[in-house]
Amino acid sequence: MAEQLTYKKNASKAEKYLDLIPQLNALTNGEKDRIANLANICAALKETFGFFWIGFYLVKGNELILGPFQGSIACTRIAKGKGVCGSSWERAETLIVDDVDQFPGHIACSSLSKSEIVVPVWQNNSIIGVLDIDSDRLADFDATDKLYLERILNEINLGNE
Ligand code: SME
Repeated sequence: MAEQLTYKKNASKAEKYLDLIPQLNALTNGEKDRIANLANICAALKETFGFFWIGFYLVKGNELILGPFQGSIACTRIAKGKGVCGSSWERAETLIVDDVDQFPGHIACSSLSKSEIVVPVWQNNSIIGVLDIDSDRLADFDATDKLYLERILNEINLGNE
């Protein structure tokens, strides 16, 4: 396992994601535990991009339950179809919200959160959770984030135990 994450401070967003992918592979390869891998993926993304809040919500029955995250305390349960996270899960697609105040039913865990991206996490053809990233700036996420976050969640070993 890599002991330290390396990233170029002045690189473009795409370059930072591309540099991060092999490091995420090194961090997660050989580890079967899902919580351990999701926790490290979360920490590595936070360290690289300085996200305001990043975390996984994991499917349990008909709800999403808070999993590994980096940032301030957050709501623990989100019903299917509720908020940006529950909507992303229900629609089975990545959602980018430029202004959370304009998203009907947005769940405000922090009043400082202004924009958000939520990416479904797939395993064996079903959604096992979502990755939620919040920014304290409006319209902070774009197609580059969607592309690479989907790729990371698709390619990296998330663990299955
Ligand atoms: N805003 C999310 C809830 C989770 S927090 O942002 C950490 C939503 O509307 O689903």
